Amino acid sequence: MKIVIVGGSGGIGLAIVKQALQYYPEAYIIATWRTRQPDFTHQRLRWHPLDAANEKAVAEMAEQLGSVTILINAIGLLHTPDHRPEKTIREFDPVFFQENMAANTLPSILLAKYFMKSLRSDNPSWFISLSARVGSISDNHLGGWLSYRASKAALNMAVKTIAIEWKVKLPNCCVLLFHPGTTDSALSQPFHRNLPEGQLHSPNYTAETLMETIKESRPEDSGRFVSFDGNDVDW
Ligand SMILES: NC(=O)c1ccc[n+]([C@@H]2O[C@H](COP(=O)([O-])OP(=O)(O)OC[C@H]3O[C@@H](n4cnc5c(N)ncnc54)[C@H](OP(=O)(O)O)[C@@H]3O)[C@@H](O)[C@H]2O)c1
Repeated sequence: MKIVIVGGSGGIGLAIVKQALQYYPEAYIIATWRTRQPDFTHQRLRWHPLDAANEKAVAEMAEQLGSVTILINAIGLLHTPDHRPEKTIREFDPVFFQENMAANTLPSILLAKYFMKSLRSDNPSWFISLSARVGSISDNHLGGWLSYRASKAALNMAVKTIAIEWKVKLPNCCVLLFHPGTTDSALSQPFHRNLPEGQLHSPNYTAETLMETIKESRPEDSGRFVSFDGNDVDW
């Protein structure tokens, strides 16, 4: 059994790597990093460098790996050293918008395109993208964070579209969008100050809820946008 964790170097991604090693003692884990390979090692873990917005690199990795049982995309971007998420349309910058689309939307589409063959199986398989509740259009009551919201909403539409196509072409594959809840990581770090008590999850807790979600889900659940607490998130 092979499990691929894309963005395994991220705060949530690395916790998913560690939880997957425990939940699936028979599995080999292939985890990716982009700028710096984590120090964490394990005999069933292989690190692979990947810029998941690079089509050729994604295609080559899929070709090398062959069949895969679970693919989890834990990549994401909310801010950069130059940009915080927008508070108003006046702060909109096309370059930052493109960076959000390249990190939050494009990788899952490329991964689906090239790993479709790897995930086709007579047994259940999973294709999971980490999204965010702020990508929900109907749940948007506050505004702000335009580039992040738009790129996650686009991710949700893309993954839903893939789930519909794969119901016929990969009927044993469960395609899910996963909302991790606010989790302690570099991505959320600048926004911890006003959080209500108990609302900030540890990456470990978030990864456990994802493992439980996978355990409880079947191909019939494909196309769901599911939260860490097991409930569906409104589109
Ligand atoms: N943390 C939260 O509170 C929260 C809440 C809701 C949703 N989420 C979602 O959960 C996911 C994980 O977030 P996190 O908190 O773990 O963030 P994080 O710690 O900042 O990790 C994000 C990871 O994405 C990688 N990445 C970005 N662009 C990439 C690319 N083109 N190719 C390869 N890797 C790339 C980064 O690698 P480099 O460091 O090398 O750039 C980093 O390892 C994201 O999708 C995020 O939107 C998080």
